[in-house]
Amino acid sequence: MSRGSRITGYGTALPERVITNHDLAETLDTSDTWITERTGIKERRIGGSTRSLAIDAGQRALQMSGLPAESLDAIILATTTPDRVIPATASSVQTSLGARCGAFDLNAACSGFVYGLNVAHGLILAGAENVLLIGSETLSRFVDWEDRATAVLFGDGAGAVVISATPAEDNALLSWALDCNGELEKSLYCDFGRFIYMEGREVFRQAVRIMVATCERALASAGLGTTDVNLVVPHQANARIIQSACERLGISEDQTVQVLSWTGNTSSASIPLGLADAAAGGRLRAGDIVLLVGFGAGMTAASALMRWEL
Ligand code: COA
Repeated sequence: MSRGSRITGYGTALPERVITNHDLAETLDTSDTWITERTGIKERRIGGSTRSLAIDAGQRALQMSGLPAESLDAIILATTTPDRVIPATASSVQTSLGARCGAFDLNAACSGFVYGLNVAHGLILAGAENVLLIGSETLSRFVDWEDRATAVLFGDGAGAVVISATPAEDNALLSWALDCNGELEKSLYCDFGRFIYMEGREVFRQAVRIMVATCERALASAGLGTTDVNLVVPHQANARIIQSACERLGISEDQTVQVLSWTGNTSSASIPLGLADAAAGGRLRAGDIVLLVGFGAGMTAASALMRWEL
């Protein structure tokens, strides 16, 4: 490997409108206690478009990196909720940011951001200098607000990172693993014009299994163990999923980032939202080893081990 990549900036965007569990309990047969105990979620943000949230998060990430939009070689927009069928929402984001570069959507459901991180790294190894990776979602448009089994889980939001080329010795992406088991696609899907369908218990069970497996692969590939990891940024779907996976991996829950209590499940946006929260909150120091792990419909999973260098 003659070059490497590292994160040089991050940014987030969340809609202003907050919907609490108590708000939901006014129209659904549910309660704050049930939602909190079963999921860890207390409230979620709703509103905006996938495009508008992506632009805001992307602008903030560029600002932190100190790079102009013209310096981007590619924009990857991880989303499972594009604003239109065509063109890719990334096209619209590209022109609004003032960039002239390749731009495409990537749909790997809630694993999209970590898939995108690995694609961005690959582009950089192939010669790109700077890639903007955004996870942006408006799942509220695909949720049946009368279905208590799904309505309580999801939220809208976006998170972005700028990934820049480095000399090989400074490479921060240490290892990765991608996974997908299409046999499980029937447990979580959304057809055109319909709402999200989910078999909650089955998704829960498989999520823990696939999450642990993808983390073990990334760790083995880097020759590291869980004791080498300073912080885990897992996909924010359910606090109990994170807890179960941590138990199996032998990682303390204190070492995980959890923003889902106030964001809900924001799919591709959840990991960059968690990463930004940890960084802004002083939980990440230069040199720390961070394990990112996503899982979601497909059933997809992805993990990446990186050294934090901001
Ligand atoms: N409020 C109150 N009761 C609810 C409810 C709600 N919002 N949603 C479901 N229930 C009820 C069910 O109807 C069921 O009632 P019953 O026993 O009378 O039939 C009971 O609660 C238990 O349902 P169950 O589905 O077994 O609950 P659970 O403990 O598995 O929790 C989920 C449900 C959805 C929170 C959980 O399965 C989950 O998080 N699954 C993974 C979902 C996920 O992460 N999806 C995205 C992946 S990226």
